[in-house]
Amino acid sequence: MTAPDIAVARSVASLRATVAAWRARQERIGLGPTMGAIHAGHLALVQAARGQCDRVVASLFVNPKQFGPSEDFAAYPRDEAADLAAFADAGVDLVFVPAVVEMYPRGFATSVEVGGVSDGLESAHRPGHFDGVATVVAKLLLQCLPDAAYFGEKDYQQLLVVRRLVRDLDIPVRIEGVATVREADGLALSSRNAYLSPAERRIAPLLYRVLRDTAAALSTQPDAVTAVLEGGVAALSGGGFAVDYLELRGADDLAPMPRLNGPARLLAAAHLGRTRLIDNIPAVPGT
Ligand code: PAJ
Repeated sequence: MTAPDIAVARSVASLRATVAAWRARQERIGLGPTMGAIHAGHLALVQAARGQCDRVVASLFVNPKQFGPSEDFAAYPRDEAADLAAFADAGVDLVFVPAVVEMYPRGFATSVEVGGVSDGLESAHRPGHFDGVATVVAKLLLQCLPDAAYFGEKDYQQLLVVRRLVRDLDIPVRIEGVATVREADGLALSSRNAYLSPAERRIAPLLYRVLRDTAAALSTQPDAVTAVLEGGVAALSGGGFAVDYLELRGADDLAPMPRLNGPARLLAAAHLGRTRLIDNIPAVPGT
């Protein structure tokens, strides 16, 4: 197999040298951080960056710090050659592929903890996850210093954690959210969908269907949040999911919403066999 025709930086120094040369020519730089197993959802970040910037950097790093001890770090799908080829096709200019020791050299002792938006939801089921995300994203942003960095709404809580992080630490990077890319049947694209058996794959779109039904029910019954959410959980459980959460939260701060009376987000996480799926959609009060 021939190596894909794309520039790769494996050290922070080499990333910085390339970006500095672009910046000297006044070029605008966009960054799309990923953990690989590239699919059309990741490529939507690249496309958004290409639309707004002169140069696009993608990063490929399976970040050990954001996986819990019983999670899938070792088994996480890794195929660097396929990922580089996908990035090359999508028009990425440079892929940053640091080894774990490049990101976390011997003696590394810093952790970035974002409060507020990181409370509850994912954190309730993945303790420490957002500390790992915030630490690696802070590093990636400071290593590359792009004009803009692109994150998917698929991981809505992560997007808000990153927005809070750059505001609180004065990291001079614009954060852009990118709409969730879905399969034709509504299932949100995810690297973890590869874990689904054929039977589970047929059930998986129920998660999005229940989110949509629940959002529709809330818009006509804005005061019945608890009952409507219980109905959504029952529909998921009845379909074969083990539900971690189905919650209505404020769209900008993820504050709990006892009634649907403003911009909101409906967020869910549920297991199908050994695969954990997450998804979310907006919820708007009825007209
Ligand atoms: P990863 O799961 O590889 O996702 C990388 C980026 O792609 C994230 O911003 C995610 O929200 C976005 N993404 C994934 N699936 C998507 C979809 N179906 N539609 C739109 N965007 C989608 O999220 C991470 O990696 C990591 O936590 C990372 C931010 C790279 C830090 O390690």
